[in-house]
Amino acid sequence: MVPYPSEVTEASGELAVAGSINVVTADGAPSSAAAVNALVTALDLAQDADAAVALTLELDPSVDQGAEAYRLTIDSAVTVRAATDAGLFYGVQTLRQLFPAVASDAYALPRLVIRDSPEFGWRGSMIDVARTFLPLDYLKAHVERMALFKLNKLHLHLSDDQGWRLEIKSWPRLALVGGSTDVRGGPGGYYTQEDMRELVTFAALHQVEIIPEIDLPGHTQAALASYPELACDDVTNLGLYSGTEVGFSKLCLTKPDVIYPFVEDVLREVADIFPGRYLHIGGDEIKDPLYSEFIERADAIAARLGREIIAWEEASVANVRTTALLQLWNDGYDIQPALDRGNHLILSPCSFTYLDHGNYEAQPGVYSWCRAEGIPLERTYAFNPQSFTQAVGVEAPVWSELVEDEATADNRMWPRLAAVAEVAWSTEANRDYGRFTLRLGALRPHLDALGIQYFREPQLGW
Ligand code: ACM
Repeated sequence: MVPYPSEVTEASGELAVAGSINVVTADGAPSSAAAVNALVTALDLAQDADAAVALTLELDPSVDQGAEAYRLTIDSAVTVRAATDAGLFYGVQTLRQLFPAVASDAYALPRLVIRDSPEFGWRGSMIDVARTFLPLDYLKAHVERMALFKLNKLHLHLSDDQGWRLEIKSWPRLALVGGSTDVRGGPGGYYTQEDMRELVTFAALHQVEIIPEIDLPGHTQAALASYPELACDDVTNLGLYSGTEVGFSKLCLTKPDVIYPFVEDVLREVADIFPGRYLHIGGDEIKDPLYSEFIERADAIAARLGREIIAWEEASVANVRTTALLQLWNDGYDIQPALDRGNHLILSPCSFTYLDHGNYEAQPGVYSWCRAEGIPLERTYAFNPQSFTQAVGVEAPVWSELVEDEATADNRMWPRLAAVAEVAWSTEANRDYGRFTLRLGALRPHLDALGIQYFREPQLGW
C-alpha cells in the first residue's frame, strides 16, 4: 500500500472472494459509490445481494480523525467506515491496492484492520499546460491515477509567456490568440470553459480539486500578444513567444485603469468555473516597484469574489490576507515574513519536488538548474514536510518547457508522485525508503493497468 496507512493491524488468514460480491454503498456519498462500483466491475465481480461476501461502505461520524479519515476492516466481510464521502473513497482506494490490478476468477484478501488519516490535507500535483498544452483526456487520466495514491489537488498552470490555455469570454483573444501556439511554436490549444467544468466534475468524483493558476503580473507575454494595451506603451515586443526565457514580460502596473479591470474580469470568470476556495494568481519571477501593490489588489479582487489566493513565494513581501497560501519553491527562500503574518505554505521545494528535473543525473531533456544531480525517487521520498511549520502540505510541479508530450509527462511524474503521496499522507514514523520501494514495487501492475508510461526506476528493479 502506498501511501502507507497510519495503523495496520494484521489478523491471520485470508478472505476469499470469487464470482460475486454484495456491495452496499452509503447514501449521499457519490464518489465512494462510484469508486467501489468501478472497482468491482474492473475485477469482474457480479453484484449480488446473496453473495457470500459483503462489501459495505458506511457513513459513521465516530471516525473523527479528520475529514479524510477511514477505517477498513477485512474479516468475514469487507467494511469501510468514515464520517465523509472522502473518507469512504480513500478506504476504497486502499482496497483497490489490496486487490490485484487485473481481474481473475478468485481473490484472497488479507484479514486486517486499517485506521488511516492523512498528515496533510494538501497532496498536490502541478502540470504546466501553458508551455505545452495537454489534452483534456490526459488530465482526466491523471486525475484517476492521482486518486489511487490519495493525491487530492491538481494545480493547472493555465497561463504563461508561451500560451494562455483557458477560454475567457470577456477577453476572447486570450485563448484564440494567446492559446494558438506553445513553447515549440506548435499548434498550442486551449480549454473551453465547458471543458474545465467537465474536468472539475470528474475530479470531484475522484476527490481531486482543480486549482486554477493564472500567472500574474509577470509571465504574461501570451496575454500581451493578445491585448497589447495590457503592456506599457514603450514595450515593442508584443509578439507570441515560443522560447524558454523567463522574467521578461509583465502587465503594465502603471496603467491601473487598464490592468485591474482585466484582472477582475479574468478572475471573475475563473471563479465562476472553479468552485474551490482558492485562486492561484502566480506572482513569480517579476521585478517591479509596484509588485506588492499588485498582489494586494489581486488579493482584494479575490476577496470580493469570495475566494482566497495562492501565490508563489515571492508574494510573501506583500501584505496579503492571512488566509493566502504561499507556495515555496526555492529550497532556501526566506519565507519567514509570510509565516510571521500567519500565512500557511504549500511546500514545493525545487530540489525535492520539481519533477521536470531528471529522474537521474544527466537524464536527457530535463531541467537541472535547481539540482544538477537530478531528483531521484529516493530524494523526493526524503523530503520531510514535518520539518516545516504552518504547512498545509506538499505539491510537485512539472514545468513543461522540455515536456513535449504525454509520455514525457508520465516519465517525469511517475513513480516520483507516489513518493510525494506518501510524504504528504503518511506519518514520519511510518516512512522508510526500503519498505516503500517494496510496497511500490508490488503496485507496478496497477501503474501498468492505468497505462502510465513511468520511468523505469533501477532502485525498484523496473
Ligand atoms: C517557478 O518555478 N517560477 C515558480
